[in-house]
Amino acid sequence: MKEVLLTILRNKKTPISDFRRAADNLSAILANEVANFLPKEKIAIQTPIVKTSGYKFKNNIILAPILRAGIAMLPQFLKYFGNLNIAAKVAVIGSKRDEKTLKPNLYYQNIPKISKNDNILILDPMLATGGSACKAIEILMKSGVLEKNIIFVGIVASPEGIKKIKNSFPGVKMIIAGRDRGLTKNKYIIPGLGDFGDRYFGN
Ligand code: PRP
Ligand code: URA
Repeated sequence: MKEVLLTILRNKKTPISDFRRAADNLSAILANEVANFLPKEKIAIQTPIVKTSGYKFKNNIILAPILRAGIAMLPQFLKYFGNLNIAAKVAVIGSKRDEKTLKPNLYYQNIPKISKNDNILILDPMLATGGSACKAIEILMKSGVLEKNIIFVGIVASPEGIKKIKNSFPGVKMIIAGRDRGLTKNKYIIPGLGDFGDRYFGN
């Protein structure tokens, strides 16, 4: 299913309404993958019939969308993690890649109180040079997050971006729907899907 949704996103003929629907559906699939991966602990419960045991997420979860494109993933992640046995907090990081230097320009941050065991999910559909993701990781680690508790969740990534995160923050895990083959000279992902923010929000 991921491949079908990725194809809709990649196709330049996809209208904005279908692009949004495919991005929403893919975000839900990714949220489910992350949920399977997160640590759980066994708990005792009572059904209406008998005592039994079950599972709950072990740690609190913090969702960290990188503006602007990351907010496209937030609603589906809130559906999963906003109202289970944990009500995930949201850390917002605003970053825009400078068109000339291609470096991230941090323009906003609002990070809630974080404890060292919290699991942080960074949400950003696009991982190109990795500059924006690494800046977000740095900010979150300064706020007390442990590297091993960070998961980067993306829709499309380049090998360069994946390598940059691996080299700079080897403890960070990545869950990505499409691992692409490279970058253009303007640092757009190949084959990619173009500018995610422009295609989801309109330009
Ligand atoms: C896109 C994307 C990432 C960044 C990836 O955002 O959502 O945040 O580019 O590029 P990088 O890996 O080379 O840093 P952009 O900066 O275009 O901002 P937007 O979400 O506001 O459109
Ligand atoms: N940001 C995007 O939206 N797309 C790319 O291919 C690279 C960065």
